Amino acid sequence: MDAIEAIASRRSLRQLSGRAVPDELVERVVANALLAPAPHHTKPWRYGILGPERRHLLATRMGDAWRADLERDGQPAPLIERLLRKSRRQIVAAPALVLACLTHEGLRDWPDERRARHEWAMAQQSVGAGMQNLMLAAHAMGLASYWISAPLFAPDAVRAALELPPEFVAQAFVVLGYASSGATPKPRAAPDASALVVRR
Ligand SMILES: Cc1cc2nc3c(=O)[nH]c(=O)nc-3n(C[C@H](O)[C@H](O)[C@H](O)COP(=O)(O)O)c2cc1C
Repeated sequence: MDAIEAIASRRSLRQLSGRAVPDELVERVVANALLAPAPHHTKPWRYGILGPERRHLLATRMGDAWRADLERDGQPAPLIERLLRKSRRQIVAAPALVLACLTHEGLRDWPDERRARHEWAMAQQSVGAGMQNLMLAAHAMGLASYWISAPLFAPDAVRAALELPPEFVAQAFVVLGYASSGATPKPRAAPDASALVVRR
């Protein structure tokens, strides 16, 4: 599969079979994230492949943080329980679960808040590029994947559950697995051509 075909045919697939993904394959997929472009030759990312041991604690800590947000929003209890159950299932049952974090390592220390914010935004853009590399590589190697942004909303809970160093800032999970037979991605609308502005 060439790059153009991979970009066009990759889809988020959330219906996964229970088939285990070999560790060696997961590592080969994740290695592609490390080839992403990054600002001024930094490598501000860290990727973790999360085995099953800590996932229950991780789901519990993240669930507690999300519950607090949802209760503050005034969401009804049955909805909160449903959302938390689904989130726990996704984390615990993922055939392979990859966590992407950022660190400040190598980034410039700007004297003002505005440029510091942009420096961090550049790091976030680079981890996004890494995630895309990872998902395209997974697709090319026959794996389904999808992105979960919940860690971005609960970085302290992730850090505590996984005993990560204080400078690690969780950004996202990618779930990797083999698609269930008959799994079909949601229909995708044709790209909105107006998003491509061409001046000649
Ligand atoms: C920054 C970001 C956050 C996302 N968060 C989630 C998420 O929390 N849960 C989820 O199921 N999918 C998530 N997705 C996947 C999108 O829903 C998906 O990419 C989008 O619907 C387009 O579908 P496609 O990937 O099949 O093209 C996220 C994607 C991105 C880029």
